[in-house]
Amino acid sequence: MQKNDDESKLTEAVIARLSADADPRFRRVMQSLIRHVHDFVREVELTEDEWFEAIKFLTATGQKCDDKRQEFIMLSDVLGVSMLVDAINHRSAEGTTETTVLGPFFVHGAPEIENGGDMAAGWDGEPTCVSGQVRATDGTPLAGALLDLWQSNSEGNYDVQLADTGGRQLRAKLHADAEGRFRVRTILPTSYPVPTDGPMGKVLERMGRHPMRPAHLHFMVSAPGYETVVTHLFVKGDPYLDSDVVFGVKDSLIVDFKRSESASEAQKLGLQAPFYRASYDFVLRPAGAARRLAARSARDAA
Ligand SMILES: [Fe+2]
Repeated sequence: MQKNDDESKLTEAVIARLSADADPRFRRVMQSLIRHVHDFVREVELTEDEWFEAIKFLTATGQKCDDKRQEFIMLSDVLGVSMLVDAINHRSAEGTTETTVLGPFFVHGAPEIENGGDMAAGWDGEPTCVSGQVRATDGTPLAGALLDLWQSNSEGNYDVQLADTGGRQLRAKLHADAEGRFRVRTILPTSYPVPTDGPMGKVLERMGRHPMRPAHLHFMVSAPGYETVVTHLFVKGDPYLDSDVVFGVKDSLIVDFKRSESASEAQKLGLQAPFYRASYDFVLRPAGAARRLAARSARDAA
C-alpha cells in the first residue's frame, strides 16, 4: 500500500490516481483543482476546526437551495467567480453587447407578451418604457429576436422571493419585430439587497460587505444562429453602481432612464405620466465565433 505521510508528496499522489483514460478536459480541470485546493490549505495552514466549519458551510449552502433559491449561484456571484467565468468566456467579443451575471433569480417559463406589452401589469411602481433594436455585429437587424426579461418589484423582491404571486410575475418573453425593434412597458427597477438570510449572507457580513445591487433589468437576448447575450441594463445614477455586491456592472450597460412628464407621449406608449424611458440596442455575434477565435488563438500560440 502506498503511504502518503509526507504532506509535500500528497498532492502528486492524489493527481497520480487520476485515470489516464479519463476525459482529457476533466483530467485537466481536476488536476488543477487538486493542486490549487492543496496549495490553499498549505498557504493558510487550515486548522481542523476551520476545515469542519467549511464543510458545514458548504452543506448549509446546498441545503438552502431549492427550485426557487440558488445559494450556490449567489456564493459564486459575491466571490466574483461568476463575473470571472463571464469575462473568460466572452474574450474577443468586441462589437457585441457586453454580458454580465445570470444571477440567482432567472426561471424558465416567463409569460409571452406582445411586442410593446406590459410585463408589470398590476404592480405598483414608476411607469417605464424600454425600447431598442436587436442587431448582428454586421448591422443586420435580427427579425423576431427573442427577449427574455426579468426584474424585481419596486421593493426589490423578485416573484420567487414572495410568498404567493400567482405564477410568474415581472417576467416576460417577447419577440422583436421584422426590423429587430422591441418595446416593453414595465416599472422602474430599484436597487436591492441579495438575500442575506442564508450561509452566504453570514459570510458577507463577516467580510464587512454590504449586500446591495444597483437597480437593473435582466435581459437574455437570442436569435437562431447567434450567440445568446445574458446581461442587465443598469439605471444611471444608482448609488451602488460602483460597489455592486456581485461585481456585475460594466460602463456600457449603464443606461439613462429619462424622466418625462409629457402626458401625450405617455399616452402614445400606453403609460401614465410621469414616466421613465430608456433605449438600448443589443448586438449579437454569429454562433461559434468564440470557438473559432479560441481555435485560432490556440493555433497562433502553438
Ligand atoms: Fe437582479
